[in-house]
Amino acid sequence: MPSLEPAEITAGSLHLRPWRPYDVDAVYEACQDPEIGRWTLVPTPYERQHAEDFVARQAPAAWADGTGAPFAVVDATTEQLLASVALGNITDLGDAEVGYWCAAPARGQGVMSQAVATLTRWGFGALGLARIGWRAKVGNTGSLRVAEKCGFTLEGTLRQALVTGDGRRVDCWVGSRLADDPPPPEDPRRRLR
Ligand SMILES: CC(C)(COP(=O)(O)OP(=O)(O)OC[C@H]1O[C@@H](n2cnc3c(N)ncnc32)[C@H](O)[C@@H]1OP(=O)(O)O)[C@@H](O)C(=O)NCCC(=O)NCCS
Repeated sequence: MPSLEPAEITAGSLHLRPWRPYDVDAVYEACQDPEIGRWTLVPTPYERQHAEDFVARQAPAAWADGTGAPFAVVDATTEQLLASVALGNITDLGDAEVGYWCAAPARGQGVMSQAVATLTRWGFGALGLARIGWRAKVGNTGSLRVAEKCGFTLEGTLRQALVTGDGRRVDCWVGSRLADDPPPPEDPRRRLR
């Protein structure tokens, strides 16, 4: 895959930008939240070295090898870290997969749905993707709601298709949004703050 040029996107009061070395503390702090450990595939317990590795190695490597576009979602005014949103598993056939978490203090304000909607538009527009997939552990109704608000369609359940950090297999919901899908009925930007 050709490398991807790291991008910055401002959408209302949110700014999506590549991860920077000084984000380590904020990532480490956010990932102490048990809900992130419960519903995503981040390591548990989440140690400082995990944040350092993510920010300094994994995230830049994804842009460099063209397989991922990981963004920090920050407050456009204060630069406070609010969330993480990424396209991963990008292929030259136009596929990718979205992944996200929102820092606990920033939840319930529409941050995640606006960030995912912004990333989705960018993926279809700037990257020319044809399909963005979504996966979540069965029962993650918050993630499902975010995905549906952003125009993703729930397609079903895959049995034992996710492998957690401690090697357990769990069932997951799968869904997708296609480049040709109509926009979602409600623009998530209307809800933010
Ligand atoms: C799920 C998560 C991303 C939601 O982030 P958020 O910024 O609070 O989401 P939003 O404010 O944009 O909410 C969007 C919609 O989802 C709903 N929602 C959010 N969290 C919810 C939950 N836990 N249960 C049910 N609905 C939820 C909101 O009510 C809103 O719906 P509405 O507009 O109809 O009221 C966040 O709780 C999180 O990071 N959880 C842990 C990590 C995770 O699950 N990541 C996804 C892995 S696939």
